[in-house]
Amino acid sequence: MAKIRLGFLASGRGSNLQAVIDQIQQGLLDAEITCVISDVENAGALVRARDENIPAFTISGGAAKTKTEPDIERRIVECLEEHQVELVCLAGYMRIVKEALLKAFPLRIINIHPALLPSFPGLNVQKKAMNYGVKFSGCTVHFVDEGTDTGPIIIQAAVPVKDDDTEETLSIRILNEEHRIYSEAIRLIANKKIHIQGRRVLTS
Ligand code: GAR
Repeated sequence: MAKIRLGFLASGRGSNLQAVIDQIQQGLLDAEITCVISDVENAGALVRARDENIPAFTISGGAAKTKTEPDIERRIVECLEEHQVELVCLAGYMRIVKEALLKAFPLRIINIHPALLPSFPGLNVQKKAMNYGVKFSGCTVHFVDEGTDTGPIIIQAAVPVKDDDTEETLSIRILNEEHRIYSEAIRLIANKKIHIQGRRVLTS
């Protein structure tokens, strides 16, 4: 079977991207990352990509902080298509995906989110979960749809919230699980082990 071709969108340090790179290099994930795109110049994710000789691009998202103008999104689509991306992986991408991307890659965009959806969608969710007083939080990999963190859930992992946790210690515990389950979700999709029934993503 041919390697699945991945394109990453990332705004930040890129540790989830790195975890996928590591899995590929260790022969644990049969995939190729064909491009990394960031809306943030010199994002850590771009540096990591360039270190691995992966084509890396900055496409500035425009004036609004979390929205991307349609013509800019079309440039992102063009870049992903030029690199023959089959699966788009959002990894710390802080912009809401809109119509151009969703139409070009239907059910072929996934996201990693640092909470157990549908609880705590949106931003700064480790802190929100802790302040709410939940005893477990975690992370979710889901397909991206037109909502914010609302698409069908592929895989989740739970971690305990401890009494002496700070936002930082909880975030680290969650991030360790993110690094494990993102590759696992990509592996399931690459191996065509996923069936979608309504909102349910079933694995076989
Ligand atoms: C991760 O915790 C990811 O789940 C989160 O940003 C961090 C990126 O870290 N994503 C979101 O909050 C998306 N709304 P990374 O750049 O080291 O992968």
